Amino acid sequence: MQRRVIPPREGEKNLVDYEEVRKNFSFREGEKFFTWSRTGKANIIYEALEKHVAEGRGDSSALYYSDGQRRENYTFAQLAELARKFTGVLHSLDFRKGERLAIFLPRSPEWYVTFAGTVRAGGIVVPLFEAFMEEALYDRLADSGARILVTAPELLPRVPLERLPQLEHVIVTGEEGLPGTLSWQEEMAKAAPVAEVTWVDLEDPYLILYASGAEGVPRGIVHVHYGMVGHYLTAYWVHDLRPSDVYWCTADPGWITGIVYGFLAPWMHGVPVVIRGGRFRAEDWYRTLAEYRVSVWYSAPTAFRMMRQEEHLLAQYDLSSLRHILSVGEPLTQDVLDWCLEKLGLPVYDTWWMTETGMNIICQLPALPLKVGSIGKPLPGIECTVLDDEGREVGPNRIGHLAIKKGWPAMFRAVWNNEEKYREYFRFDPWFVSGDAAYYDEDGYFYFQGRVDGVINTSGERVGPAEVEKKLVEHPAVKDAAVAGKPDPLRGEIVKAYVVLETGRELTAELMEELRNFVKTGLAAHAAPREFEAVGAVPRTADGSIDRKKLREWVLGLSKPD
Ligand code: WTA
Repeated sequence: MQRRVIPPREGEKNLVDYEEVRKNFSFREGEKFFTWSRTGKANIIYEALEKHVAEGRGDSSALYYSDGQRRENYTFAQLAELARKFTGVLHSLDFRKGERLAIFLPRSPEWYVTFAGTVRAGGIVVPLFEAFMEEALYDRLADSGARILVTAPELLPRVPLERLPQLEHVIVTGEEGLPGTLSWQEEMAKAAPVAEVTWVDLEDPYLILYASGAEGVPRGIVHVHYGMVGHYLTAYWVHDLRPSDVYWCTADPGWITGIVYGFLAPWMHGVPVVIRGGRFRAEDWYRTLAEYRVSVWYSAPTAFRMMRQEEHLLAQYDLSSLRHILSVGEPLTQDVLDWCLEKLGLPVYDTWWMTETGMNIICQLPALPLKVGSIGKPLPGIECTVLDDEGREVGPNRIGHLAIKKGWPAMFRAVWNNEEKYREYFRFDPWFVSGDAAYYDEDGYFYFQGRVDGVINTSGERVGPAEVEKKLVEHPAVKDAAVAGKPDPLRGEIVKAYVVLETGRELTAELMEELRNFVKTGLAAHAAPREFEAVGAVPRTADGSIDRKKLREWVLGLSKPD
């Protein structure tokens, strides 16, 4: 097939010759960029924050934070000092290496200070996306066994504390202490800063991030300190970061992108990050790009499309500082690429990866011709392929399971409390099976072809259909339910629910609104179905599980419910 190709970018770029670097590359070579390769003392937060202070760059900017009310800038030295204080708070609570602390906060400087202070103390952070409601929170908090929760007064009522006996301390931001909780600000004010970093084994975990699969409860994806080698190199090759950059990754820190590229990887390069709090508004984003003179921008197709809807605002803002734009999380459609080319004068470079991979894996790179519609090529040091249902490699131009040869640095090391689930990903050892369908062409470019397993991707957010189904059937009007992702021109996919109603119930506009709210308030807003259809029965396979293939046919209009 003839594909449109955009030529490699002219001028300076960090990765100049992809083929040459790829030839014999081993990630071990990346270890030399870290102080632990000389000192033997490792901690990912040391490399992201304190190293810069120790090496005399403490006064450079690290974080530009703003939202409707607050506008704060922090240097590396200031953040490191706050993180030391938060470590002091943890010491006063007798928090030990390897214990879990959950963060359920809106985007705010406190989020990043809490993360850094916990990880430098050897702790494991469990980030909880701000939109989660009671059920979603319960599953994740109970499974992780978090002893400490850091949250905000407006989010606290959603946390079912009475069902979480292992949670010993709840720290709440804001000045006023709430009964039974500790105040973040008060604890910080009285804490003695702890200058020593807790040195860890590079294979020790620092992060458990819950990701939805098709069936069952979300899986706690475990990441270890050694992942930094992958973060550093991908930020250099793919994001093309240089010390003079201002970097804005728009993802929420409740998801992997907002953690690895939101702050860890750019900080390892000493590059300041922009964090914009509050809800999405196109005007706000145009202003943020202009005001902070953002030079490298990492966002997602749905966001680009929402910006395009208000492109009349473009003329009001000077976006000339932008030099590199990247996309992640959902298919980068051609209309988005064309819009960026035309209005911003830059192509968008697609990046493919997952919570499980912990770092960018297959990417369009400035040094390579950009084949439109492709997600790009595997990065140096990484081998990808496409497998059939038996785990055999299928060769070019054949669709199958996208798989990665195990052993890349930021690869997840476990599924928390679930060895069996972890092994399932590696059922075709040595290949990690992603759950995505794909093919590659004769030049080695990969093409994403959707999920294999029914996991929904709405606005780049990963939704497990089983979680939504479980919630829907709790509603008295619903006997049975099945949920699938329906293609949508703005959001990539929307959540569509097929419901079997109790006798005598009808799918009225009111009931749909009620069901939507039921999921919104019980599970999470982004998981709430935008569309409903009443059916006589949910399609099931011989073993009684929901027939996700059939559902896919239904949402695509290829076949109809009986
Ligand atoms: C999807 C997000 C199309 C894919 C980093 C994957 C993409 C899931 C792309 C992981 C892309 C990610 N084009 N689809 N460039 N990147 N995906 O764990 O289905 O939230 O399996 O990690 O997002 O979502 P997750």
